[in-house]
Amino acid sequence: MPRSELAERFRPMLRGAGARFSREAAQRPILVFEDVYKSYEQGAPVLRGMTLVIERGEFVFVTGPSGSGKSTLLRLLYRAETVDDGRILFLGRDVARLRADAVPFLRRNLGIVFQDFKLVPSWTASENVAVALEVLGLPPRLIRARVGEALERVGLSGRGDALAAVLSGGEQQRVAVARAIVGEPALILADEPTGNLDPQLAIDVLGLFEEIHEGGTTVVFATHDRTLLEVRPRRVVVLDDGKAIDVPNGVASDEYDNRLPL
Ligand SMILES: Nc1ncnc2c1ncn2[C@@H]1O[C@H](COP(=O)(O)OP(=O)(O)OP(=O)(O)O)[C@@H](O)[C@H]1O
Ligand SMILES: [Mg+2]
Repeated sequence: MPRSELAERFRPMLRGAGARFSREAAQRPILVFEDVYKSYEQGAPVLRGMTLVIERGEFVFVTGPSGSGKSTLLRLLYRAETVDDGRILFLGRDVARLRADAVPFLRRNLGIVFQDFKLVPSWTASENVAVALEVLGLPPRLIRARVGEALERVGLSGRGDALAAVLSGGEQQRVAVARAIVGEPALILADEPTGNLDPQLAIDVLGLFEEIHEGGTTVVFATHDRTLLEVRPRRVVVLDDGKAIDVPNGVASDEYDNRLPL
């Protein structure tokens, strides 16, 4: 799809997300990156007027070659980085400009899964999951119940007392997914969550994200693993030249083929 046509498609949604409109309208897309610019101190600008609209309940792959800005896009959303210019509206709030209240708001509403799992190896699976609720100050009995449910959802019931260090890579990633979903966030972000897994485990973990998505959670899944993009037709957004481009009909497009990672 040419960029001009893409812009036409997004314009009404962007307008809906603008501050001039009602709060209800503003909250319709769960996530809007609006004309976002981001450079690091050294090197070329990474995002250059990037616009991306994600509706509630979508499952979106974000792809592009190494260095195209996939992790940067996610890091801006969870406030590990700040934008140089533009807005990031998440649940109707401008994440780029949240102040002291940013952390609890993001913790409640975002679940994040990383390539390297980021578990504490000397803690059990349950303890690693529980921490996401402890930071929210929930009572211990409720935490125990919800941790048990989350581990069950990722196929690890019965493994809660195992130390993270003794779990396989696939199991560790499942624990990390359980930690991300236990607080029932509106949006799950995954940054190359299958990057450390062998191909079959990668497909299994993708299946887990798909199940979570079917339960109603919005999923943004950054990957350069082309095999995953081809598992089934999905919305695919390619980062190219500092902008986000929707690939029509997933990956089956010659026009966009050369922009996809190999
Ligand atoms: N903290 C940083 N300081 C300076 N430059 C950075 C920093 N983080 C990322 N970059 C640069 O920004 C660009 C985009 O990086 P980013 O990690 O977002 O890409 P990516 O698409 O996630 O790549 P990969 O597929 O390798 O994970 C790269 O050129 C990278 O070197
Ligand atoms: Mg990355």
